[in-house]
Amino acid sequence: MFQPSSYQRKSRIAVGRAASTREPEVISQPAAGGKGAGSVPRKPLESGLYRARPGAHIDRMAILKIARMGHPVLRQRAAEVADPKAPEIKRLVADMIETMEDAHGTGLAAPQVHVSLRVVVFKVMGVRAGDQPGDGPVPLTVLINPVIEPLGPETELGWEACLSVPGLMGAVPRWTRIRYSGVTPEGERIERVAAGFHARVVQHECDHLDGTLYPMRMTDLSLLGFADEMRRAAPPAAGGVEAAAEEAEPETVEA
Ligand code: NI
Repeated sequence: MFQPSSYQRKSRIAVGRAASTREPEVISQPAAGGKGAGSVPRKPLESGLYRARPGAHIDRMAILKIARMGHPVLRQRAAEVADPKAPEIKRLVADMIETMEDAHGTGLAAPQVHVSLRVVVFKVMGVRAGDQPGDGPVPLTVLINPVIEPLGPETELGWEACLSVPGLMGAVPRWTRIRYSGVTPEGERIERVAAGFHARVVQHECDHLDGTLYPMRMTDLSLLGFADEMRRAAPPAAGGVEAAAEEAEPETVEA
């Protein structure tokens, strides 16, 4: 399903820009196999600057444009990746990681960069980790075709933000403990038990693969608001959610 030309990329190296420079030229592309964004004409990936050094672009990464709520790519079910070890997937993953780091996110799903494939990347920094089993720091992880299974009926509220819903934060109920699995671009299978923030990040990212954004999971929309307003005042009380709110850093919660 994946086609190398299905998303736009442009090497910073090739155009000689600073690492933090956004690339406004990177435009939304139709998702692989999708219908919703089909009005944008495709442009050959290897056109222009890449011609100068054939093959050299493999090592380069690109910061991709992030789709925002309302774009159809965020509403559709992303397709399974037929070959997780394909070079195109490695390149997509590298670009997603660079995009996530540039945005100071803690996770990113492929549909957020206009690629409708079941790929997510995430990490849990030590400052975000809790003390229950499965909620420790997690190194940068790539999951292809991930599957989530809740371990028990318990849910908990916690603050979330999303790079595709910029500026907002909201309290979202999530499974407290889950088991998740997936495949890496090296073809290795990952299976982990997760709890707390770790479990929340994985559920948030995998929701993107099914066209679900966190506000769609919220049960009390009075707990949705602009992050700067909610930080200025004390966030509204919501059961056990206050403790999480003290640490809420939407730019690092995402998502
Ligand atoms: Ni998100």
